[in-house]
Formats: sequence, C-alpha cells, structure tokens
Amino acid sequence: MKQHQYEALIVGAGGAGLMAALHASQRAKTAVLSKLYPTRSHTGAALGGIGAALGNLEEDKWEWHAFDTVKGGDYLVDQDAADILAKEAIDAVIELEHFGLPFDRTPEGKISQRRFGGHTNNDTGKPVRRACHAADRTGHMILQTLYQQCIKNNVAFFDEFHVVDLILNNGKACGVVAVQIGTGELHLFHAKSIVFATGGWGKCWETTSNAHSLTGDGSALTYRAGLPLEDMEFYQFHPTGLYPTGFLITEGVRGEGGVLINGKGQRFMEKYAPKIKDLASRDVVSRAITLELRAGNGINGKRYLYLDLRPETVNRYLAEAGESRRIDAHFIETKLAETCDQARTYAGIDPVHEPMPIQPTAHYAMGGIPTNNDGQGISDAQNTVVPGLYAAGECACVSVHGANRLGTNSLVDLVVFGRRAGKHAGDYAKGADWTPLPADAGKHIEAELNRLRNANGKVKPYTLRQKMQQVMMDKVGVFRNEADMKQAVEDLREMKRQFKTELGIDDRGLKFNTDMLEAWELGALLDVAEVTAYSALHRTESRGGHAREDYEKRDDVNWLKHTLASKSADSDEIKLDYKPVVMGRHQPKERVY
Ligand code: FUM
Repeated sequence: MKQHQYEALIVGAGGAGLMAALHASQRAKTAVLSKLYPTRSHTGAALGGIGAALGNLEEDKWEWHAFDTVKGGDYLVDQDAADILAKEAIDAVIELEHFGLPFDRTPEGKISQRRFGGHTNNDTGKPVRRACHAADRTGHMILQTLYQQCIKNNVAFFDEFHVVDLILNNGKACGVVAVQIGTGELHLFHAKSIVFATGGWGKCWETTSNAHSLTGDGSALTYRAGLPLEDMEFYQFHPTGLYPTGFLITEGVRGEGGVLINGKGQRFMEKYAPKIKDLASRDVVSRAITLELRAGNGINGKRYLYLDLRPETVNRYLAEAGESRRIDAHFIETKLAETCDQARTYAGIDPVHEPMPIQPTAHYAMGGIPTNNDGQGISDAQNTVVPGLYAAGECACVSVHGANRLGTNSLVDLVVFGRRAGKHAGDYAKGADWTPLPADAGKHIEAELNRLRNANGKVKPYTLRQKMQQVMMDKVGVFRNEADMKQAVEDLREMKRQFKTELGIDDRGLKFNTDMLEAWELGALLDVAEVTAYSALHRTESRGGHAREDYEKRDDVNWLKHTLASKSADSDEIKLDYKPVVMGRHQPKERVY
C-alpha cells in the first residue's frame, strides 16, 4: 500500500470539503481526497440560493433566520448552532463575494435576494427575501469559486481517490484508506485530523434529486468504526422533483411566484398553509402533495402535480396578492435558467409556456455524524469528542437542521460549519502529536475489496440496490407507519445478508473497476438505510420530515431529543441512545404557516 502523510485530511470536495480545506490549509499541511473530480461534486446541484439576513431588499435580521431554522426544524434544532448559522451566514456570504462569486445583483449593485420556503419576517409572518443567488446555479458557483481559491492556496488534491476505510487508534482518528480509481491501487493516508465532508445518501431511495455518487460513504465508515449516527430518521423530501426523474426543480421557482396546482386546477397549498401557501416549509409541502396524490388529485389521475411558472399564472396570483412585481419570459430565462434547461432537457417541457410535472423527491439528510459547533465528531450523549475526527456539510449533524431543513440552509451549513471545521481541524493538527497507525491498518478493507472484486454469486449489486430503493421509497418515505418500517428493517437485513454471501460482480480488473466500487457503495447505502429505518421505527411521534400515520402528533414530552444509533461491538444489532436538544430563546409551539 502506498503511504502518505498530511496533518489535515479532508474527505470530499463539495462546498463543505473545499471550505474546510481552504481554512485548514492556512494552518496545517492539508490534502483533499475526492472520489469525483472536485467540481463535479453535488454542491453543484444546489440551485436556488444561500440564505443570509443581509436585508438588501427589505428588512431582515439574523434572529429571524435563526427562528425560521428552529421552527422549520420542528424544534429539534440545537438553538446555539442555529444562532451561529444565522449570524455567521452574513459574513460567510460576504467572504464568498470577496472570493469572486458572481451573485446576481440588485439595480444598486447589492447581492440580489429572493424568497424561499419558510423564510419569514417574524413580525408579520410574511415571506422575506433572504436567499442570495447566482441565477439558479448558486451551488455550482460556490463550488467553482471555492475550488479556485483552494488551487490559489496550493491545497493538495487527490482526485478520484475513493475513501473506503477510517482508521482509529486508541479512540483517535489517525488515517484513511483510499482506492485510486484509475489504477485500483490502495493508498494509506496518515493524518492528525480528518474531516469527512462526503455528502448525503439520497441513493437509498428510488426517486431522488441526488447524484449517483451520494452513497453515504463517510457516515457509513463512521458507523462501522463504532461511532454513533445522529437523527438518521429525519430525511427530507423536496416537494418539487421533476417527474419522472426526481431531478431538483428549485424552490426558487416558488420564491419567484410559481404555484403548485393539482389535477382539479386548484392552488391546493391555500388549504394546507393559508398564510404562506406554496412557501411553507418543505415537509409541509411534500406531505400536502402526497395527500393530494393519494386523494386522486394527480394530473389526469397520474402520480404528479403541476408547478406553474408561466408568466400569465404567476402574474395573476401576484396581482391577487396585491404585489406590484410582475415576471416575463426574459425574467424566467435569466433568473431561472437552470430550471428552464432541466425542464426542457429532461421532461421536454418549456416552463415559460407549460406547467412542469413534479413529485416529492428524496433530497437531504438532516442526520449524520454527530458534531459539536466546531465540527468535531462526538461519540456519545455526553458530547465526548473523538480526537482528530471532524465532519461538515450534509454528512454531519451539528444539529442545525433538526427534523426538517429550511431551504437554502444546506449551502449556509457548508460554508459556515465547513469553515469552522477547517479552522479547528487545522489548529488541532498543528498542535497535536502524531497518533501511530495500527500495525494492521488497511488489512481488513484490502480483504473486503478483494472479496468484492472476486464475488461470483448470483445477486448483482444493481438488483439489490433497486430493491433497497423501492423498500425505502414505499416504507420509509414521506409517510411512515410501524408495520411498514418493521418490514423495511427486515427486508434490509435480508439484503445485507445477500450482500455478504450471494453477491456477484463481473469486472475482476483493477483499473477503473466501478463495478467493485459501486458494490462497495451499496454496502454503505445498506448500512445507512438500515440505521434510518431502525431509528425511524423507534421514534413514536411525528416531527418534521418524520411523519407517522400511527403517531400523528409531535410529542415534546417524550421526544424532544436527538437519536444516537450505533453498531454494537459484538453483533450487527443497532443500539439506540438519546441526548437532549440544546434549547435557547424558542420554546416549542405548534407550527402554523
Ligand atoms: O430548492 C432548491 O433550490 C434547493 C435548495 C436547498 O436544498 O436548500
């Protein structure tokens, strides 16, 4: 195995990884390992904007942003983290601007801001323009900008290096093993601090906005190392996935005035969220769409509804709401350019002239590797730090999203907590002693990869992957109940057994063996899917993205707490523990939108 030594290692090159790398590299010798070429990372798919209470177009306050985050998260958010997020978002957006990010501008030259779901003026309850945007390609611009900054600052990149093992010694993180995809060689990286920024695991579900690479690698590795995963039951369905692919149609469409319409031609969100209608939080809108579909109100009886952005529709509703603003074809083509491309390319629909077919799509993991506010990994309900281990971005659970993430806060999370994790990991690496790698470092994963490469059973990884995705979609989706989730856990356990004993792949080579690596990714997906279903089964209430048909109410007496799920040391069973939510200014209230 080839060996390397860096003081700080960042695994993943999306927004959180690059922000962490940039700041860690100013403090310590830093490298980034990414299974993709960095600018292909999934941050590029974040569209509509990054929230920050700049108040460029109307009054706004970071305290309002913090409250919307807590309320959106159905009060499971740690409120100290929400305050940090909302306060530091302002400065982080300005930092991005100074790095050269080409934000859209107001006529006076300020950063342009648009409405997004759940962002409100807390005094009036009305939507507020808080999402700073670069057309509807905001994530793409963040990724390009941060990558340029990393290159400028001489961060070392190992592109197309797939990390497949996390090494701990005596409870301290000290290394990772990566497969160099192009050659199949294994590399052992020794480090003092390791930041996981590996993104989410939308590929557990059949309909998802997530790219093929979103397979929960960092979270699965942490779990396999015996550490807990937090709040895995909370998974967000974005209301507007393009039908039938599930690709994301940005909430920015509704922010600019687009409306949801059912098969009866009704603007049904008036019924579910009378105050802010289509701009209610995502869990509320996804449930409303699912209920409409269940009631047979799909378009022509099919499994989709319409998102209508046509100027004549939008302008009619803007006029009805007493707003002076109007939109036209040019506005749509420029401010929502990516939406136009997506709808035309993947659905053959021109959103200027036709409504877009949409359905809820698996979008974002609120849970993940538990961390404190500096991104340090923690190992238990007492918040004991795992020295050297960090996580940031979607794979982490700070917890700033609680039970349902507010739109735009994924990008805020990446830059705010990516920066915090990078700074802390860099400082820690500079001061800490080297923890030696264990003598057998990498041996276990080498054997596992050889097993996968030579697997000659009857069950193909893509067949198992499809089964898992169907089970998760049908049984651990927008609505859940005990019988379905019990069945899901059983089904997933049977799939894990097949993965271990009956798998077969076709490529026995070393170079670009994506057959083997996708099989490895399937193992990671099965682990995080099982933890998700198991944690969900045991939470007997409805909160945010976890909506149970058999426990319809939120239960603050028994469930205002975070789940910690870990693997038992001596079996494949999952152990559950719980820790309190960090409260602050806001006591739980009924959510009204
Ligand atoms: O709707 C969107 O543009 C998605 C943004 C987000 O997930 O925050």
